[in-house]
Amino acid sequence: MLDLEAIDKNFSGVRALRGVSLRVEPGEIRALLGENGSGKSTLVRILAGEVAQDHGSVLVNDVVLPPRDVPSRKVASVGVVGQTAEVCAEMTVADNMFLSDRRRAGLRGLKSRRAAARAQKILDEWGIELDACARVGDLSQDQQHLVEVARVIAQDAKIVAFDETTASLTEDHVRRLFTIIRRMGERGAAILFVTHRLVEVFELCDSATVLRDGEHVETAPVSSLDTDRIVRLMVGRSIRDQFFRPAAEQGSVMLTVDGVIETAKGESYQLRVRAGEVLGVAGLVGSGRSNLLESIYGLRRRQGTVTCGDRRVRIGSPAAAMDAGIGLVPEDRRRQGLAVGQSVRQNASLLDPARRGLAHVTSYARGERHVTTMRERVRLKAPNARNAAGTLSGGNQQKIVLGRLLEAAPGVLLLDEPTRGIDVGAKREIYDLIHQLAERGTAIVLVASELPELLGLSDRIVALHSGRVVEEFPRGVDAVAIGRAITGIGQVVTDADRNPFSRGMK
Ligand SMILES: Nc1ncnc2c1ncn2[C@@H]1O[C@H](COP(=O)(O)OP(=O)(O)OP(=O)(O)O)[C@@H](O)[C@H]1O
Ligand SMILES: [Mg+2]
Repeated sequence: MLDLEAIDKNFSGVRALRGVSLRVEPGEIRALLGENGSGKSTLVRILAGEVAQDHGSVLVNDVVLPPRDVPSRKVASVGVVGQTAEVCAEMTVADNMFLSDRRRAGLRGLKSRRAAARAQKILDEWGIELDACARVGDLSQDQQHLVEVARVIAQDAKIVAFDETTASLTEDHVRRLFTIIRRMGERGAAILFVTHRLVEVFELCDSATVLRDGEHVETAPVSSLDTDRIVRLMVGRSIRDQFFRPAAEQGSVMLTVDGVIETAKGESYQLRVRAGEVLGVAGLVGSGRSNLLESIYGLRRRQGTVTCGDRRVRIGSPAAAMDAGIGLVPEDRRRQGLAVGQSVRQNASLLDPARRGLAHVTSYARGERHVTTMRERVRLKAPNARNAAGTLSGGNQQKIVLGRLLEAAPGVLLLDEPTRGIDVGAKREIYDLIHQLAERGTAIVLVASELPELLGLSDRIVALHSGRVVEEFPRGVDAVAIGRAITGIGQVVTDADRNPFSRGMK
């Protein structure tokens, strides 16, 4: 059904893809795997007609699609959900779903009431809990991603690619997405599924294709693969998936946060983190995890006090937080952490204390050193440090933001989903770095959605629900107890309970 033949792609001297071929049959769910920068998104964008390949062809049912031609993809029923959600914030869910509908008449589009009813019917039928009339800008990030999924469904796409769609979805939305993808497969669609979470491959996919440095390394049925083999194909070496950080020796209290957050009973909660300690923060999306970190860092005005060492930090002032030695790796790194138009080198040197002069730049040599350090420490793949940071692959953009803070090593480090979108090899390295920083006496507050990661790294875990601290757990607690606390209902819901669609099936 889908046939990519010998695709080559270069970007100003960067060889993103070299002779990559792959075929996907109707009903097949194919995982597309590879390290950050291995060429997955580029391949997906070539399929989507957003980027032209240098050589090779894209065929759908044996018909060649013209390169860099989005409209032809609509005709051929190709739908793509990209790595970053592309939606119109000012429009409704329904309008977003029918954006490319050829039946839209002129500028006024479909009669909006009819469109809304049709959209709602599709949403309900596929078990997507969205209001067709809601303004997309008012929705959370993962809901916005679901709007893109709904758009592909509304398009009735027969060839669908998902580029790391699950990375920004909560666990229950991932469940729903899987139900949707399986159903697409049952209806004969050919699916390409990009992810860094290998468990998803075993749960969802029939077969897997692995890319390394822009080249095809292997395509095999998932039943013939195991984690270790996939990892070796991806990064060329074995990596233990599990990580358990041994308890480090803890020093004096580095960070005290008082009166900023409350307990479930409405009392003020005092958050303290010691030097060398990793405090994990567990919670569902919307439970106030990022909010808490942003308050400590001064991005939000709040009641209460924040003290770092013996320095009082003015709440509502990131500059004061930075002066006091607090660093933040924000959740949305592309928007909050990166100057996408500036070079990789400039972005890598942003926290260099030697930046001076009117333009706040560092010397070329220092900049190069930062980039080299990151290539070694977080396995940054930036073929050309002069290129704009925005041209890096998603995972490598994140590595710059993370890498420069790991290098600056402030006394207190606030990490918001530090490994989201990061490949398995680099993840392991980031775990090691967190461990090393803690050993050197950094106090770390870690927000992570993946519970194994949180459990493996944290000395202590606070669970948030609806913006409040519901429970505190010591090291060694099991995932079920945390699951109970963060769902706030005293028991873990089963997948079937969470998913309206599967309930309808029974
Ligand atoms: N517009 C561009 N200009 C220059 N280089 C680019 C551009 N787009 C992609 N690249 C380069 O092509 C290579 C492949 O990038 P791609 O985004 O396809 O990787 P990926 O496999 O999707 O990685 P990730 O897992 O991090 O999302 C990278 O080295 C990237 O820097
Ligand atoms: Mg990508």
